[in-house]
Amino acid sequence: MCGIFGCITTNGDAAPTIHASLKRLEYRGYDSVGIATINNGEVFIKKDQGKIDEVHKLLNLDDLQGNIGIGHTRWATHGAPLKINAHPHTDCTGQIIAVHNGIIENYAELKTELENRGHTFQSRTDTEVIPHLIEEALKQNPTLTLTQAVVETIKKLCGSYALAVISSKEPDKIVCARNESPLVIGVAQDATYCASDLTAFLPMTNQAVMINDGELVTLTPGAYEIIRIQDGAPVTRKPKTIDWTPEMAVKQGYPHFMIKEIHEQPDTLRNTLRAQEHYLELLSTFLDRATEVFLVACGTSYHACLAASYMFSKLAFLPTYPVYASEFIEQHGKSVNIDSTILAVSQSGETADTLGAVTCSQQRAATVLGLTNTVGSTLTRVSRVYLGQQSGPEIGVAATKTFTSQLSVLAQLALKLSTKRGKVSQDEMDYLAEKLDKLPETVEAIILSQEDKIKQLAKKYRDAKIFFFLGRGVNTATAYEGRLKLMEIAYVPSIAFPAGESKHGPISLIEHGFPVVFICPRDGQTHKTLIGNIQEMKARGASIISIIEEDDEEIKALSDDYVEVPKGIPEVLSPIPFVIPLQLFAYYMAVEKGINPDMPRNLAKSVTVK
Ligand code: F6R
Repeated sequence: MCGIFGCITTNGDAAPTIHASLKRLEYRGYDSVGIATINNGEVFIKKDQGKIDEVHKLLNLDDLQGNIGIGHTRWATHGAPLKINAHPHTDCTGQIIAVHNGIIENYAELKTELENRGHTFQSRTDTEVIPHLIEEALKQNPTLTLTQAVVETIKKLCGSYALAVISSKEPDKIVCARNESPLVIGVAQDATYCASDLTAFLPMTNQAVMINDGELVTLTPGAYEIIRIQDGAPVTRKPKTIDWTPEMAVKQGYPHFMIKEIHEQPDTLRNTLRAQEHYLELLSTFLDRATEVFLVACGTSYHACLAASYMFSKLAFLPTYPVYASEFIEQHGKSVNIDSTILAVSQSGETADTLGAVTCSQQRAATVLGLTNTVGSTLTRVSRVYLGQQSGPEIGVAATKTFTSQLSVLAQLALKLSTKRGKVSQDEMDYLAEKLDKLPETVEAIILSQEDKIKQLAKKYRDAKIFFFLGRGVNTATAYEGRLKLMEIAYVPSIAFPAGESKHGPISLIEHGFPVVFICPRDGQTHKTLIGNIQEMKARGASIISIIEEDDEEIKALSDDYVEVPKGIPEVLSPIPFVIPLQLFAYYMAVEKGINPDMPRNLAKSVTVK
């Protein structure tokens, strides 16, 4: 996730406006920043790695001449957060300048093709192919306008983008376009803006035009023209008046970041499913050769590791050991060795316990692999190979979207490894890959159809003093995660176990009305045994809340309350959709109890002490 902004004005220089607007987009990414303007046919660019204020101190981002410009605040996906990879990017001549949010999946092929045609690249980003493709389109057909050249370029792109382009040859316009990354236009008397979201221009205008996938817009001062990219047909769309306060705008109208981030999951999952091929291949090669594999993490990331251990075992027949990072040195510090492989999972890439386990492993010559949301973090620097989970910054203290992204990447990794090892039939692999691709839609459907019901459940159970969360197999991890969310956000003491363990002790707590949440996918071996576990609890007076597949009449009949997810989810992938109702439940329980879910007491987003 990055933030883009463009401004064309008749009222002075654009740069100070772009700088101020990028500050409002900083929540979308903050590892590097850049602005480009055009004045009297000359292009000015300032960019560097670092937060906006740091770069401004060094370069003075307000001091670029010209009434037209574009800017970008970055969250690295392709290419480390270095000056050279910071946007804007230009073509070979430096006349065509672009900023981009999204991922160009076919950038490697396009780059090779362009290099063969003599183009020279400066960065390791996917974005840089865009200005070069525009340059190439204009070289092939010099009669094209900038707008037409951008259309030709877009037809070659696969992936997601919100992009904005300017050219010193046509310095009176900004061309922007959208596919699966947000883009909105702001219209004022003396200026027009394009931005990743309307927070960016809200202090200047409350007149906003939402842009849809497959649309391209040409901006001139105070005016805009939308066309459909596919056939060039003009689109008429009037601005809407936005009456959000600045605080509402940052959260895009949601009351809290946590609920905004829960709702973002269909999009973050789509992002996560893109373009990791090369790194997945590399990482799976390391795992394939490994003698013993430890999956090391804390908190929610540990739950992703726990789920992954089932995925690796079931799909690739690879035994792995999920370990709490804070326990790793005590538990394995002496035995870890040159034949050990550690896959460290950390959203922030800065968690002290996880890095401690990594350092210990490195000292003992083990191989360290990483999975993180923060390219440029310590974990990316110390890992032999790392994967980026591409969820964008998470502001809410509780991990939500970053958890499902981790699960999605780990599932892709397990599938890759499975292909390598030939352990699962091609039919089954194809089936799972198809189901994985559909998960963003599944998650969307769950949020849409179940959120109101979950709100009601939170009202019903708001005074409950304790909860059980039970699941079997891979959904033991889902149960743990549901418990952690409810405890940390709504301060409700909760207990989670593999369901089979409950009768070895915890069941003695059960009395009339004790709420027990069961995670019940229908596919796989666990459904039948779970029904037995539900009956054991029910017989002792527990209130059963089940997360089930639609039409699972058997479990419905045993439940006091249930939440439904769409049918046909393979068990091995089920933690991704099944955790969504648990995230929503924790959120609405906190809201019911008057707790701010974005700032739970005593917690920090990144735990950098042991
Ligand atoms: C829970 C939560 C924490 C983190 C844990 C690890 O909602 O956010 O449990 O998962 O502190 O953080 P990372 O993944 O940054 O290493």
